[in-house]
Amino acid sequence: GKSGYDHYMLKEIHEQPTALRQCLRGRVDELTGTVTLEELDALESSSPVQFVACGTSYHAALFGATLLRDRGVPAQSFLASEYSTDRIPVDPSTLVVGVTQSGETADTMRALREANRAGAETVAVTNTVGSSAARECDHALYIRAGPEIGVAATKTFASQQVALTLLACRLSNGSCHGVIRALRDVPDQVQTVLDTSQATEIAAEYAESDAFFFIGRGYQYPVALEGALKLKEISYRHAEGFAAGELKHGPLALVTEETPVFALVTGDDEQARKTVSNVKEVEARDAPVVAVTDGRTDVERYADHVLEVPASNEIGAAVTANVQLQLLAYWVAHRLGRSIDKPRHLAKSVTVE
Ligand code: F6R
Repeated sequence: GKSGYDHYMLKEIHEQPTALRQCLRGRVDELTGTVTLEELDALESSSPVQFVACGTSYHAALFGATLLRDRGVPAQSFLASEYSTDRIPVDPSTLVVGVTQSGETADTMRALREANRAGAETVAVTNTVGSSAARECDHALYIRAGPEIGVAATKTFASQQVALTLLACRLSNGSCHGVIRALRDVPDQVQTVLDTSQATEIAAEYAESDAFFFIGRGYQYPVALEGALKLKEISYRHAEGFAAGELKHGPLALVTEETPVFALVTGDDEQARKTVSNVKEVEARDAPVVAVTDGRTDVERYADHVLEVPASNEIGAAVTANVQLQLLAYWVAHRLGRSIDKPRHLAKSVTVE
């Protein structure tokens, strides 16, 4: 049942600390800084890596590819439905990773079959033991999120983020001490967000807005896309996610005082500073700004509201910032009286191409 929650979606959002601990259990050794993924013991190839996925899982794949490239491994992610149309070069040295919660998504299955036919080594990153993707691929890495009943993917996305971080460690050379230490703290950081989030109040303030925009760069770019997807699929409000730097190349035309902009600004580097200047451009057009930040005072100065996340590294920040946006989407949809667990026009697994 829903354990006292109004919807499975909210229950599953709250299950994330447990889901993430399950995903990590027995797979990391803090002392040696190593990641062991038994399911991938027989994996041979390492790069280049091509991710194929759809929807929310595609956003997780974008995150995974960024992580791998940061660790020196060539990696790209593709929308599974475009993978064959685009005739992406793939050969036996390529590792193709299908990210699919259900393991049944037709577009992803087709891409994986093509990769197998081309002789690539394949991995399914999935929540579902014995699923079509797990059977099609040479290897299956389970994200161990537990069953997800709500149609909108929530805890499975967070578990994909963590599982793909583990995969990135497994595929790259060099120490994973820093990453492992960061991962260890993520479940508690997610709990902190769940306990302290102001998303309900912000949802109440903006639920009637014309449109919602989400901006982020680097690790927060996929989170911006995911925040917009979650909001549109359950609230039916117009929402778009942009790479922060792209706003000035056109989308700024849509920014008015009726369009709240959610700016993901975490960490303390050049990237975050650039996003702050993008926030200034938005603020100059009188748009309400909600900063999702780990206490950066420069962005808070331009923001009408703040959704706080704990200080962390870029991996933890991408998980916790997304949790804030899940809560936002949930509470906007709740206010609008939507059918949250079964939104219109979306199925839990999409088995047509
Ligand atoms: C979003 C959502 C869809 C799925 C997509 C892929 O909340 O549910 O966008 O993420 O259909 O599904 P899987 O991961 O099962 O391949």
